[in-house]
Amino acid sequence: MPEPEDDMSMDLDLDDRRRLLDAACAVVKGHPGRVRDLPVAPPVDTPDVLHAVESFDLEGGADPVATVNAVGALLEETSVLTTHPRYFGLFNPSPLAAGIAADILTAGFNPQLAVWSHAPAAVEIEARLIREVGGWLNIADATGSFTTGGTEANLTATLLALHAHFPSVSSDGIRSIPGRATLYASQDSHLAWLKIAHLTGLGRRALRLVPCDGSLRMDLDALRDMLAADRASGALPFMVIATAGTTSAGIIDPLEGAAAIASRNEIWFHVDAAWAGAAACSRRLRHHLRGVEGADSVTVDAHKWLSVPMGAGMFICRHADALRAVFDVSASYMPLPTSGGALDPYVTSVQWSRRAAGLKLFLTLAVHGRRAYAQQIEDDVRLGSELRAALQADDWRVLNDTPLPVVCVTDPRREGDAAFHEGVAAAVVDSGRAWVSAVQLGGAPAVRACVISHETEESDIRSLVTAMRRARSGLADG
Ligand SMILES: Cc1ncc(COP(=O)(O)O)c(C=O)c1O
Repeated sequence: MPEPEDDMSMDLDLDDRRRLLDAACAVVKGHPGRVRDLPVAPPVDTPDVLHAVESFDLEGGADPVATVNAVGALLEETSVLTTHPRYFGLFNPSPLAAGIAADILTAGFNPQLAVWSHAPAAVEIEARLIREVGGWLNIADATGSFTTGGTEANLTATLLALHAHFPSVSSDGIRSIPGRATLYASQDSHLAWLKIAHLTGLGRRALRLVPCDGSLRMDLDALRDMLAADRASGALPFMVIATAGTTSAGIIDPLEGAAAIASRNEIWFHVDAAWAGAAACSRRLRHHLRGVEGADSVTVDAHKWLSVPMGAGMFICRHADALRAVFDVSASYMPLPTSGGALDPYVTSVQWSRRAAGLKLFLTLAVHGRRAYAQQIEDDVRLGSELRAALQADDWRVLNDTPLPVVCVTDPRREGDAAFHEGVAAAVVDSGRAWVSAVQLGGAPAVRACVISHETEESDIRSLVTAMRRARSGLADG
């Protein structure tokens, strides 16, 4: 039996709409007050989650406020709480309130950034942010775009580098390249590069993984040798990628040396600074990234160490012409370009329809200012040093040498024992007191902890050290 039409309307009156949005805001506003007392990673039973998801009636719908509350509770009760001050995990910091507010505004107004004329302020906000963050990196007049994240930014870099070396690729595809095109990143680089090699049609084997030296940095002699040997065998190198802040260990590749090699070989130099690039906002920490200013392009994710909600990467570049050449397209159904000459983002970036991803960084900077970010990031670095020292004092051996707040440790009595280190990480997570992960650095198993939340305090560092000690002795006893 069809339902009466008025029961099917999606139009809420103004009061109901307000109640629904107030309910969502109340869930989000209440979460920081609750989160400290929640387990960082709740024990999750797969059938229960599936059952909870199935329990929503997608055919008939339900009361808006009750449904918002139920979905909010489901997320809070089943997710690894990256919002928790003792989430010492991957680069998913607790989002700052200004960034959350900006995402609410973005969702509410839903500006379409494909063309300048539809959302001029939002487009100019993103252009200003690219110049601003480019300035932190010492890249004058930077151009580029906001992306969904680091992977899209790195993909964009690869497309530009391909175009710079093989201009025929845009029209005739990679089969027009007169040889095997190759790109170079360290063995410890983020392996979305493999997906990018696949996506561009080059194939995963085109990505040449350069060995790291004993300190886990890209070995520049090995890079030189690989470039020479590949050229000698007929390959066509087109891009060198250095990582500033590896995912596993926070290692910064030798940027100046890598830039010099790329320049000597006349190939594109890209720096993947997806999370550590944020350190450039601090005048005290910026020197760790020396050499980044020589890059043709850089990836920096605002949704990593700049602590805004996910979905905000940045592709920063010094070649406006190349962006236009790679992404240019015109379609009669799109609004005409503005007479002022401002470029429409859909002709300079991967995306077509485009969310105002930059607004959350803009609002956060506009509320707090760069100096507050610098202080926050310096605080994380200081807490990282405290964590390093506390773990060393507790007989863990640190395996990574970095100024960034990633600490990877091994138990000297269990070196090389992957199951033990995985067991320690799992026991810490199961305790609900903190979240850390297991990792392998140059083949050596370790436990990895990263200080990344603006909510983390010294007492949280102490709690983590205690949780690690208990996990270690629990495994030794067992
Ligand atoms: C160094 C580095 N590059 C790229 C990425 C991928 O970024 P995203 O997950 O935003 O696509 C990450 C993710 O952690 C990363 O650490």
